[in-house]
Amino acid sequence: MRNKKVVLGISGGIAAYKCAELTRRLKERGCEVKVVMTDSAKHFITPLTMQAVSGEMVSDSLLDPQAEAAMGHIEFAKWADLILVAPATANIIAKMAAGIADDLLTTLLLATDADVAIAPAMNQQMYAHAATQANLHTLNARGVQIWGPGSGEQACGDVGAGRMLEPMELVELVCAEPVEQLLKGKTVTITAGPTREPLDPVRYISNHSSGKMGYALAEAALALGANVNLISGPVNIKAPANAQVFAVQSALDMHNQALTLAPQSDIFIGCAAVADYRAADIAEQKMKKQGDELTLTLVKNPDIIADVAALTQNRPFTVGFAAETQDVATYAKGKLKNKNLDMICANDVSVQGQGFNSDDNALTLFSAHDEVSLGLMNKSKLALTVMKEIATKLI
Ligand code: PMT
Repeated sequence: MRNKKVVLGISGGIAAYKCAELTRRLKERGCEVKVVMTDSAKHFITPLTMQAVSGEMVSDSLLDPQAEAAMGHIEFAKWADLILVAPATANIIAKMAAGIADDLLTTLLLATDADVAIAPAMNQQMYAHAATQANLHTLNARGVQIWGPGSGEQACGDVGAGRMLEPMELVELVCAEPVEQLLKGKTVTITAGPTREPLDPVRYISNHSSGKMGYALAEAALALGANVNLISGPVNIKAPANAQVFAVQSALDMHNQALTLAPQSDIFIGCAAVADYRAADIAEQKMKKQGDELTLTLVKNPDIIADVAALTQNRPFTVGFAAETQDVATYAKGKLKNKNLDMICANDVSVQGQGFNSDDNALTLFSAHDEVSLGLMNKSKLALTVMKEIATKLI
């Protein structure tokens, strides 16, 4: 990645102060960095600081004859391998979505055919606003990469999603190797998260699945060029912007959605922690406390992945997960065979720091003729490795 030519477009948010560090780190990694600032960015960090760290004149005006003589704005737009807008405020995101070109940065963004990435940074309410979300969706559909935002405490005191990613996180994204589009033109359907089996209007049976593993698989499939359907039980994480999300609650809902989408899919992955049983009867009113014991009658839910694997027409390549606390390989291989799967990802969920609701995981992938062990790593990296393994089986 040495000599990657990056235009860093700084817009006017408090996170602009992190751009000095970002520039220094990009240069350490061998990137050439030219800085463009909007007028409001200059309230948060000075052009002089950015000039000192980038070692280049900072550009900030479309109508500056001297700057245009040195490198015209069209030439500038052509020079870049990547234009990274960081921080990207709600305002510049809206301008980009609308195609407004009223200063140097927005003009470069229209005039370039380089990759464009933005690192959103704003108040959490502004980020959640329907207008901002619609603008991000528009940009994403046009191929703009949206990096972040992170969540946490904000400069204004609010807590939530809207923090600019840290400089080193952005550096890693800028310098990441391009991913081969191994699944271009393929449709991947993934189930993720838990199911909720209602007992009455206020209570349900569920489990600890956070959806992180399934959502990471969806991100990975998108990165490899696939169209992604994500059938998700109730979770509290953000869905990948480009996936088609189908929100469901119970195993029966998930079963219906899965059997609708599976025949239109090339690959089906069952990562959801589906409840094996549901209440035989759901009380219409909140159940009253009675006596010291309560006996519930449960009935078996349909086995979603087994039904997908049993399709006789348009059967997708079918991958299951096996969450086990003992004899992991034996049980996983049993499920591979009994459910007629093409591959199963054995997940030892008895080990601290992996499995349910953790950021990291370790898996062993079993198929009829081979076995691949993937040690502990973050779920994003693991998901990409799993998706690449699946892709190689299809090629
Ligand atoms: O969501 P996270 O917090 O990130 O956690 C990830 C995970 C631990 C949930 C995930 O890695 C995982 O192991 N998912 C499978 C959980 C599970 O229910 O495993 P199982 O061994 O009970 O089921 C075997 C397979 O059958 C799974 O593919 C499951 O989706 C599927 N199944 C199970 C029951 C059912 N009625 N229908 C199904 O399709």
